[in-house]
Amino acid sequence: MALPFPLLPTIAIPSLLLLLTLYILKRPKLPPGPRPWPIVGNLYQIKPIRFRCFYEWAQIYGPIISVWFGSTLNVVVSNSDLAKEVLKDKDQLLADRHRSRSAARFSRDGKDLIWADYGPHYVKVRKVCTLELFSPRRLEALRPIREDEVTAMVESIFRDCTQSDKRGKSLTVKNYMAAVAFNNITRLAFGKRFVNSEGVIDEQGIEFKAITTNGLKLGASLATAEHIPWLRWLFPLEEEAFAKHGARRDRLTKAIMEEHTLAREKGGAKQHFVDALLTLQDKYDLSEDTIIGLLWMITAGMDTTAISAEWAMAELIRNPRVQAKAQEELDRVIGPNRIMSETDFPSLPYLQCVAKEALRLHPPTPLMLPHKASANVKLGGYDVPKGSNVHVNVWAVARDPAHWCDPLEFRPERFFEEDVDMKGHDFRLLPFGAGRRVCPGAQLGINMVQSMLGHLLHHFEWAPPEGMKAEEIDMSENPGMVTFMTVPLTAVATPRLADVGLYKRVPVDM
Ligand code: HEM
Repeated sequence: MALPFPLLPTIAIPSLLLLLTLYILKRPKLPPGPRPWPIVGNLYQIKPIRFRCFYEWAQIYGPIISVWFGSTLNVVVSNSDLAKEVLKDKDQLLADRHRSRSAARFSRDGKDLIWADYGPHYVKVRKVCTLELFSPRRLEALRPIREDEVTAMVESIFRDCTQSDKRGKSLTVKNYMAAVAFNNITRLAFGKRFVNSEGVIDEQGIEFKAITTNGLKLGASLATAEHIPWLRWLFPLEEEAFAKHGARRDRLTKAIMEEHTLAREKGGAKQHFVDALLTLQDKYDLSEDTIIGLLWMITAGMDTTAISAEWAMAELIRNPRVQAKAQEELDRVIGPNRIMSETDFPSLPYLQCVAKEALRLHPPTPLMLPHKASANVKLGGYDVPKGSNVHVNVWAVARDPAHWCDPLEFRPERFFEEDVDMKGHDFRLLPFGAGRRVCPGAQLGINMVQSMLGHLLHHFEWAPPEGMKAEEIDMSENPGMVTFMTVPLTAVATPRLADVGLYKRVPVDM
């Protein structure tokens, strides 16, 4: 039966109003942010240095903002209260990871640790990392490797800056630190120093580097269509290239694993991660894929440590007062007749503050790694729907004038005035994140950065290249998840210890 015409508006209009009210009331209240465009969201408004762009938007829209990468909501928080809400109060609901198509391929859909969602597999491998790989006992057992590598760094800087044709010329500082990080991590994980004392890399080393470079290339090739699912047909996954890459990685890793199995049968277990994982395979029920994934995941620590040490050196050259004060401490505690060891750290509080201050101003992963909501969550009074990504701008948090006096000043003494933890217990300083997904390599990273800085400062005086003033050092950041200096730091190193014997590498065979 048709309704009489005059009755239609009297029923339809209130019904529409009711529906509209219900829609408005039920609609999630998302954090504010720049207006997204259809389909692409805010993708084309985001400036290349993302953490700076998000910081600028936070000044306009507030400390919690919505940013749309295509059709995916990304929530970025920029103060310590909200960081605490993300990483402590709501930690469990925000501990999944967004896997791009390439991350999904590389990690065999989260069979490692970095890209695994929070669940039984994650809890198991995290336990392996905490109790077995990064335990204080194993870190101590592997200390000789780290000390071998920092002394090798000192030796090569000494050689390069004292050659008659190079005296007074500047060096590219990062090259030396990258070598420490590379050798350290490959020795620690795979029990291999792929590079000999003349700097010549062996066949497996060449393969290792090629696999890492190829991985980065494959990952970058997909970026454009990552956020707009229906556009992906334009950028198909290069199935064959990924399969080849995976096979190459497996081949190299399995060959190294076999070498270790043979060596263990002959002479007992060693301390390298590959031995630990193979010995613990049954205890933790680890698949071969997981072992391979875990071993490669450790390469994540290479860049972050070298970058942190490079930023710290840039600050020390820009701030000669701080450099002199750190050297005064080293001269007083270590003196001119021996070299520093990690066991000296407790007696070098200023050096520790220098490393911490550098990580405050220049966290190498300024937006951490993105977390993903496994359920609908409220953050700062706003709704964050299940499946959204959540980023903590730890760079902005550590420069927040509400918590830091003269936040842009490089002043390590601030930590004598108030000791602020940087390993996830104080939400004002989060270079390693916090909570369930806090960086498992934090202590290793800190030891490596402090050790590099201590040796560099004890053995050498550092100055800007000839003709350049300290304040002219370019402190701009490169785009990317890991923040390199755009212009690699160059500096002049002058030896400051009289005993040339102290510039020799102290090699260990392990
Ligand atoms: C200065 C050095 C380092 C810094 C600043 C750093 C920082 C970070 C940050 C911010 C995260 C993300 C935390 C989160 O998602 O909440 C992370 C995760 C991670 N880091 Fe580090 N890291 C450093 C060194 C290392 C080293 C040396 C290793 C290993 C050898 C390592 C291995 C990892 C792994 C495996 C994860 C993923 C953890 C997970 O998803 O549960 N990192 N790191």
